[in-house]
Amino acid sequence: MARSTKDIIGREDVNDLEAILELTNSDVDEVVHVVQDNADAIFTWDYERSRVPLMKLYEKAKASQWNGETDLDWSIDVDPDRLARESLMRPTTEGLAALGIDLSGTALAKFTDDNWTEFEVERQKWSLSQFMHGEQGALICTAKIVETVPWIDAKYYAATQVMDEARHVEVFAKYLDTKLDGHYPINHHLKMLLDDIINDSRWDMTYLGMQIMVEGLALASFGLAQQNTPDPLLRQLLRYVMSDEARHVAFGVLSLKEYYEQLTDAEMLDRQEFAFEAAVRMRDRFLQQEVWERMGVPVRDAIRVFRQDDPEIRNQDPFQQLLFSKIVPNCKKLGLLDANGGWLRKRFDTLGVTQFEDWVDTGEEYETLDAVALDRAGA
Ligand SMILES: [Fe+2]
Ligand SMILES: [Fe+2]
Repeated sequence: MARSTKDIIGREDVNDLEAILELTNSDVDEVVHVVQDNADAIFTWDYERSRVPLMKLYEKAKASQWNGETDLDWSIDVDPDRLARESLMRPTTEGLAALGIDLSGTALAKFTDDNWTEFEVERQKWSLSQFMHGEQGALICTAKIVETVPWIDAKYYAATQVMDEARHVEVFAKYLDTKLDGHYPINHHLKMLLDDIINDSRWDMTYLGMQIMVEGLALASFGLAQQNTPDPLLRQLLRYVMSDEARHVAFGVLSLKEYYEQLTDAEMLDRQEFAFEAAVRMRDRFLQQEVWERMGVPVRDAIRVFRQDDPEIRNQDPFQQLLFSKIVPNCKKLGLLDANGGWLRKRFDTLGVTQFEDWVDTGEEYETLDAVALDRAGA
């Protein structure tokens, strides 16, 4: 029996904005955050290498290590105001009017061009900050996978990912601290998701939550950010990070494909529910409530203006939809979309993202995104 939506995500209606906005990070000054990790550490005495796709991925990872200090050109000067003005993501009063969006009667009616630039500077900083916190989540999750996965080939590969994720946290933190002026605290929805992933005692749930859901979204999100940023340093940074992320998502797909083939319907339903919860949490943070707060704009005003209070319109936002373009085909490949009478497919329908199901899955994509190999080949 599937649990109710309220049991899974804490509210009856996926689109209940008031319930989403109620959840905010109430301890933005905390330095240390403790999460109960309920899993057993597993030794294996079976050292035989038998999982060829994972062996191949491990070799690739060893050959594709890069150094954030020396491979990125930190001498590039970053001017956040100029970048924000040039950003394709920056809203303007005229641009919104052309879309038929009326700002009158809201706090945004008084927004000058400089205010929109400032908003874009903050939005960018907020977004990179959430990437950075998510990267730390990945660092912790992959260290956990090294301990909990029962297969030697997967332990080997996960160990390379621990290094990758340390480097990712490092470069995002360095960019935020030295090129921008610091970072935002973690968004509460993202924090709840990371906590749930780490809490779970089952080794495959770490993979599902992190490799398939969080990293699947990150891969799509880094791709969009990389195409849209006018900053050559950030473009280079994201390109390198993405080439690692493509391997990470492949690690999830390749490992879980084998494991999920043997699960019962009831066990699959647990995984489907978890995938749904993760999708909702990630989507809830798109409201970027902290940015509006910093701009002194009531969050509900901004949500109304950007029509995020209408589930139909919110579900059709092409940018938000695209963020699921890696997750949905991977869930399909793992059998999660269709198990139990298409339980997850119906849930993804309510989020407006099922149309990506036949897009290419991420089992092999890492071959084409390998920035280190491309750079060494002079491409
Ligand atoms: Fe990462
Ligand atoms: Fe990753």
